[in-house]
Amino acid sequence: MTLAEIYKDLRSDILKLEKEIETQVGAEHCVLRAASNHILKAGGKRIRPVFVLLSARYGQYNLEEIKKVAVPLELIHMASLVHDDVIDNADVRRGKKTIKSKWDNRVAMYTGDYIFAKATEIATFSKYSEIHPILAHAMREMCIGEVEQLRDQFITEQTLRQYLRRIKRKTALLISVSCELGAVVSEADKSAQHALKWYGYYAGMAFQITDDILDFVGTEKELGKPAGSDLIQGNITYPALYAMQKNPEFHRKVQRYMKNPGSYPLNVQESVTIIRESGAVEASKALADQYVNKAVKMLKGIDESPERSSLSKIASYIGSRNF
Ligand code: IPE
Ligand code: IPE
Ligand code: MG
Ligand code: MG
Ligand code: MG
Repeated sequence: MTLAEIYKDLRSDILKLEKEIETQVGAEHCVLRAASNHILKAGGKRIRPVFVLLSARYGQYNLEEIKKVAVPLELIHMASLVHDDVIDNADVRRGKKTIKSKWDNRVAMYTGDYIFAKATEIATFSKYSEIHPILAHAMREMCIGEVEQLRDQFITEQTLRQYLRRIKRKTALLISVSCELGAVVSEADKSAQHALKWYGYYAGMAFQITDDILDFVGTEKELGKPAGSDLIQGNITYPALYAMQKNPEFHRKVQRYMKNPGSYPLNVQESVTIIRESGAVEASKALADQYVNKAVKMLKGIDESPERSSLSKIASYIGSRNF
């Protein structure tokens, strides 16, 4: 099932959220406005607001209240991408030039900050004060995850545990919070809030693992962002960890490169072939599937409904997505 099919019933509310985001990033300053609009109009899956909408169905669904968390969540995500492209030195995002490439790093840093600030501001209009520490915590953890990634960059001797801890912080928590807050602002009962929060956490873990697989097996055309750059940039993800463990020769090659990238260049194409042949893609998919299964299990904690079926389909989509 494609995302478009899963989103079908939500289309009119997604459009309303889109409109609201557009109005909100209509910044006072022309450069901030142009840069924010540039990334917004480039598209994106909007998966976080969709999680909010679906989770909100477990209580009293009120789009005006939902907006005050769904819009901030997409904005926090967008801002983190603007900064991430500076850190990862990426020139393409959502099929368009990144802000850092179309303008420069300085504009990207302030545009990211501006979008973060906008997100915080919108959330202050919510009547549910409990959302603030939850949002702030997710934003803090994202920073820690990205900085941990910097600390672990070019280090080949890493454990699966370290990798999982990083992706939990940089990706899974924001998705978990999207599910949780949809339930909070619709006053769903505590057990539904709990189940949705954990569903989001497991779905979020699977989401980043598949993002890391796609970096090796996807194309720029499919992904709308450059493929094959994680390893070259020294970001060791699970597929690379697995391949190094299976193939000592590849392990040595990567080690040499990571110690001295200038003197021992890694051939991207060759590395991708080795990674594919090592069984790393299957192993990573199996790991992602374990999380997908855990996510689906958590759905047993909420009532059966069309929304539950959509959440289950999104989890399966995450496990098999190619963009
Ligand atoms: C990309 O997120 C960054 C990760 C957390 C893996 P998405 O894949 O949700 O990006 P868009 O919003 O669809 O562009
Ligand atoms: C996820 O990591 C980024 C954030 C959570 C900010 P990536 O660096 O893998 O994201 P992409 O692949 O550039 O979208
Ligand atoms: Mg990154
Ligand atoms: Mg990146
Ligand atoms: Mg990536």
